[in-house]
This record gives sequence, structure tokens and C-alpha cells, in this order.
Amino acid sequence: MHSPLAGLKDPDDRRLPRIAPPCGLVIFGITGDLARKKLVPAIYDLANRGLLSPAFALTGFARRDWSTQDFEDYIRTSIEKHTRTGFNERTWNQLRAGLRFVSGTFDDPAAYGRLAETVAELDKSRGTGGNHAFYLSIPPSWFPEVCEQLAATGLNQRHGNEFRRVIIEKPFGHNLESAIELSKVVSRVFDEDDVFRIDHYLGKETVQNIMAMRFSNTMFEPLWKANYVDHIQITMAEDIGIGTRAGYYDGIGAARDVIQNHLLQLLALTAMEEPVRFTQEAIRAEKEKVLSAVRLGEDLSATTVFGQYTSGSQGGTQVRGFLEEDSIPADSVTDTYAAIKLFVDTRRWAGVPFYLRAGKRLAKRVTEIAVVFKRAAHVPFENSEVTESGQNVLVIRVQPDEGMTIKFGAKVPGTEMQIRDVTMDFGYGHAFTEDSPEAYERLILDALVGSAPLFPHQREVELSWQILDPILEHWASAGRPDPYRPGSWGPASSQEMLARDGRSWRLP
Ligand code: BG6
Repeated sequence: MHSPLAGLKDPDDRRLPRIAPPCGLVIFGITGDLARKKLVPAIYDLANRGLLSPAFALTGFARRDWSTQDFEDYIRTSIEKHTRTGFNERTWNQLRAGLRFVSGTFDDPAAYGRLAETVAELDKSRGTGGNHAFYLSIPPSWFPEVCEQLAATGLNQRHGNEFRRVIIEKPFGHNLESAIELSKVVSRVFDEDDVFRIDHYLGKETVQNIMAMRFSNTMFEPLWKANYVDHIQITMAEDIGIGTRAGYYDGIGAARDVIQNHLLQLLALTAMEEPVRFTQEAIRAEKEKVLSAVRLGEDLSATTVFGQYTSGSQGGTQVRGFLEEDSIPADSVTDTYAAIKLFVDTRRWAGVPFYLRAGKRLAKRVTEIAVVFKRAAHVPFENSEVTESGQNVLVIRVQPDEGMTIKFGAKVPGTEMQIRDVTMDFGYGHAFTEDSPEAYERLILDALVGSAPLFPHQREVELSWQILDPILEHWASAGRPDPYRPGSWGPASSQEMLARDGRSWRLP
């Protein structure tokens, strides 16, 4: 039926682009890798897509003794090198007019005084309207100092409808206790509703598609349960080593770096019940239920594996082992590979194992969720005629080649009843002409708009540490990590973990 309202523009119309209100973003750690490669280009790409207000301002805060010109050159180079949408002089000029740089150390009160003056000046000259977000792209050991300095200068104080928000990068602690400590510090200065914790996986289109796929269709959800699912594998494999990140990575390792956040978030989205609404409260509530229902195996030496890459050849190039990487102590026991088997104790998932694995220097870069279904209870063909028929699998490819694949058995053409596995593929690149925005574009925009569904709540962070802490403690007393060759799929012990259950890791 044709709606009488068709064609009228409703302010809540979801097809209208959401545009950030006039505001300023202050980045602490603007000279770091993350800011240079991801944050600055994402801000520019948002501006290029018309999603920032003309009154937007970007302030960098760092130790360097830069002039305004130095700062502009730095920002411009970062954009030219990493923009997704292409360099455009008009967008650049508009952005440039709102660039400011404050030089100072994170514990220098005078520098915060200059920051407060800059923010006030931007409100006047640029029209940022008292709305400011502070992005802490810095080691968490600095969070307390920066938050306290912001409070001491009154930069966390908003008036009327203005906003003052803080955006924080992981790691949110290194265990449950430190995560709680960190949160106390932040919450002394900012209200929980004004704290935006970044888990950049939640900004990825394919991760949001897990919810779209599950909750906007009828054909998947009836099968999405213990009655039909044999097990689920969640893989985040990277082919790179730790590069220049030794300072961050050593002592952190794969489990803290990506399982505590990205993989457990993927698990929560895969296993959760349908939220009653697409609001932050409703989505967080369902994710929290999943994380609270997680149960680890009783014998962690049989249900978890931690590994470390050795030197060897990867893709024809000789690469160093983790212990030979720059600045890594020769006796480091940091896990560059981690695999965990766990259960979600709910009626929907009773008895279904979830296998999570993540690692550096693996065979290739791929992140995927594979839902492996039970075998058919009865097949009315002679066994000898059923060739190569495995189990039905639904794979959600988070990256690269974003999309979905369903594997099922089909008859091989010919006079015999031969069955073979075939696949049905959906590729983002084929189905949509538009490129997916970068995760940071989405998340920075959401933080500026004040929309929190894609940001984990502190409770999720704590529940995730609660899952991981016993494993980390177990590994700390378990000796050395198991070695694995670069370009492999991890230590042999990881394959054995699944083999003991009569299963095997997929070769993505
Ligand atoms: C980060 C980790 O959160 O995610 C890195 O700290 C990892 O170690 C990175 O390399 C991977 O992100 P992406 O988006 O390339 O999968």
C-alpha cells in the first residue's frame, strides 16, 4: 500500500545520513601509529563523505615541539597516505581551518591550561558549541593522569546541552582487577554514558552484519541452536609478526590483545538472543548474558593452548622468531598464538563447544566465524556413493573477502547418486557497489553523535576478563608456550585439542 507520507522527510528517517553535530575532537597520542594510520584518515574520510559538521575541529596533543605548520604537514601526509576516499583539496582546506596543536607532556598542568584555552577559542572561532570529545590513544598507564588533569582544568565539565566525552582505546586493563581500577579512575571524571570504549571489530560492517543476518531473516535462526549445531569455530589469523610493537605486545600476548575483546565480542554476537530493540541497553544486555554464561573446560591444559612463533620461512621470506624480534627478552613466554575451547551454558547452546583461536605469523590473514552443523541423522544412499560429503557449514567471513559461504552436499552429475560438497557464496564486493567504511570511521562518527550500541560497556569488559583470567593464570604456571612455524596454522597441540574431540580446525 502506498503510504500518504511517502516522500516526506522524517527526521528519524534512517536513510538520511547521520551527521556529527558541531564539535571538537582532541586526540592524545596524535603522533602514534594508530592515530597516523587509522584515526586521522578516518576523520578526514568522514569529512570527505560530508558526515562532519563544517564546525568540526581536531586538536592534537603531544610532546613534540611542533609549529602549526609542522602539525598541518603531519596531518596532511597521514591523510594522503592512508585515505580511503581520496585526497580532495576542498575537504582538506575545510579540515585544516579547524586544526590545532598543543605541545606538552601528559602530566604538565600548563599544557592542559593551553588545551583549555584552545578549546574555548575553538568554541568562538569555529563554533564547536562547547561539545568536545577526548580520544585517549595512549598507553593505559597514562589514563589516570590524563583524566585527572582534564578534571583539574574543568575540561570534563559540560554546560546545558553540551557534551564532554572520552573515547578510550584498549587494552582496558590486563586482568579483571586492573580493569576495575581503570574504570574507577575514568568514572571519577566522566559519566558512564560519556565513556566510549573502542573495540574496532564492532565498527566493521561484517561484524554488524552478524546481527543483520541473524535477526532480519527467518532461515538461519531456527537452526541456530544446539539441536542442529555441532560446534562453532571463531578464527582471527594474521600473517604478520609483531613488527615494531614489541613494547606493547610483550607481556600482553594474543589472548589479551584480541581474544579478551574482539573474539569474545564476536562470540557474544554469534551466541546472543535477539535484543528487544536495536539500542545500546538492549544489545549490551544480551551480550552480557552470553559472556556470563561462558564456562571453561575443567582441565585448562586440555582445553587451551598457547604458542609462540619460531623463526622460519613465510611466503618464501626468512622471518625472525618472536624471541629474536627487536626488544623481546630471550626468555619471554608471551603467547603469539592462543586457542580456547569453551561452552555457553544456556538452553540454546547446551553442550556445543566454541573453539576460539588467534595468532600472529599464521598461514594467512583471515577472520571468520564458522558454524558447523551436525551430520544428517540418516542418509538414504549407500555409503560408498556418498563421496566427500562433510558437514554443512555456514561461514561468516569478517575479513578479507567479506561475505558469507554455505557449504552443503549436492549430487555430482552422472548416472550414480554421488554426493559432493559445494558452496554457495555471498560476497560484499559483488552484492554492493559501495565500499565498506573503515571501522574507525563508523566508531568515531558514533562517538561524536553519541550513539553507543557499538561500544562495549564496562560490564562486558569485566566479564571478558573474568573468562580470561583463569586461563592466563594457568599459562603463567604452565611453562613455555608451544612453538609453531611461521606460515603454519599454529602449534600441533592446537590441532590435537580438536582431534581429541573428533574434530579439526577448518583451513579457511
Ligand atoms: C588490534 C590488535 O586490536 O587488531 C593488533 O592490537 C591486530 O595486534 C589488529 O593486528 C588487527 O586488526 P584488523 O582490523 O587488521 O583485523
